[in-house]
Amino acid sequence: MSDTLLEVRNLKKHFHLGGGSVLKAVDGINFAIHKGETFGLVGESGCGKSTAGRTIIGLYNSTDGDILFDGKNVNRLKGKEAKEYTRKMQMVFQDPYASLNPRMTVENIIAEGLDIHNLASGKARRERVYELLDAVGLNKEHASRFPHEFSGGQRQRIGIARALAIEPQFIVADEPISALDVSVQAQVVNLFAKLQKERGLTYLFIAHDLAMVKHISDRIGVMYLGKMMEVTTSHMLYAKPLHPYSQSLLSAIPVPDPKEAGKRERIVLQGEVPSPVNPPSGCPFRTRCPHAMEVCSQKMPDMQEVEPGHFVACHLY
Ligand SMILES: Nc1ncnc2c1ncn2[C@@H]1O[C@H](COP(=O)(O)OP(=O)(O)OP(=O)(O)O)[C@@H](O)[C@H]1O
Ligand code: SF4
Ligand SMILES: [Mg+2]
Repeated sequence: MSDTLLEVRNLKKHFHLGGGSVLKAVDGINFAIHKGETFGLVGESGCGKSTAGRTIIGLYNSTDGDILFDGKNVNRLKGKEAKEYTRKMQMVFQDPYASLNPRMTVENIIAEGLDIHNLASGKARRERVYELLDAVGLNKEHASRFPHEFSGGQRQRIGIARALAIEPQFIVADEPISALDVSVQAQVVNLFAKLQKERGLTYLFIAHDLAMVKHISDRIGVMYLGKMMEVTTSHMLYAKPLHPYSQSLLSAIPVPDPKEAGKRERIVLQGEVPSPVNPPSGCPFRTRCPHAMEVCSQKMPDMQEVEPGHFVACHLY
């Protein structure tokens, strides 16, 4: 028995844009997620976080690489086995306004997965919906209503109940709190944590900044332009980020204690994120990296374990 639930090896997702150009949204990433943990995936807009999440969950076919779920290579599963696998993972989306069908009642939205997989009907189906509403902090009177009658935070709770309906083991939460008011963000994060504890769930939690995933992640992966730059525990990433890109992301987080703030230097990155259609040679971060060297333009650094449990892809190490 391994404690790894999901392992991603050299995963690629390229989009063909026509005219022969290829957009390498995810370009050979490696990481593993342990059972019961929250793995935070961070990086600037467009670096490939959502594409990685969608490919892992099977919403996109991968271009190359392997996805191992509970030791099984998902790419090779067919028919019934493939369907079983899709039942074990679910997604919670960023925009709670766009991700719920406005013409469906809350009951039918939440029960969609139950219907697709023929898991419950009639009274059992209704009971299951009530139980799920209760689990996410809503109540049974909400079942017959429509999405427009709810606030953003409540809609995200409905989205979470929908994801939980078929009892998945693994949930990809793609920026589930970014679109919510700051005042309700913490409540939804707490709900994720509560559900994880109660149900033994494993999360891939996507966010564009480190501040958002700091408290909820056990480990964090930092992506830049389709590549994974650093993977380590949340604690180590905050205490001692090794990759220059992680260092710049961390330096952007405001520090509440002014004494601490004085010790930390703000690193402001120059220039824009290059286009993923035409990325820089070698290390994709080299056009903005304050430490770039000759070798950085020639070769993409391999991901190395530079100290136990701390993986970095950078020629400095
Ligand atoms: N279906 C698609 N077809 C073509 N290009 C796509 C598609 N989906 C994403 N892309 C492109 O792939 C790259 C990565 O996009 P992705 O949405 O995965 O990034 P992201 O890290 O989730 O960004 P954000 O923080 O804005 O959500 C972007 O350049 C995007 O334009
Ligand atoms: S490989 Fe070079 S350019 Fe890339 S992050 Fe490291 S030092 Fe900077
Ligand atoms: Mg995204």
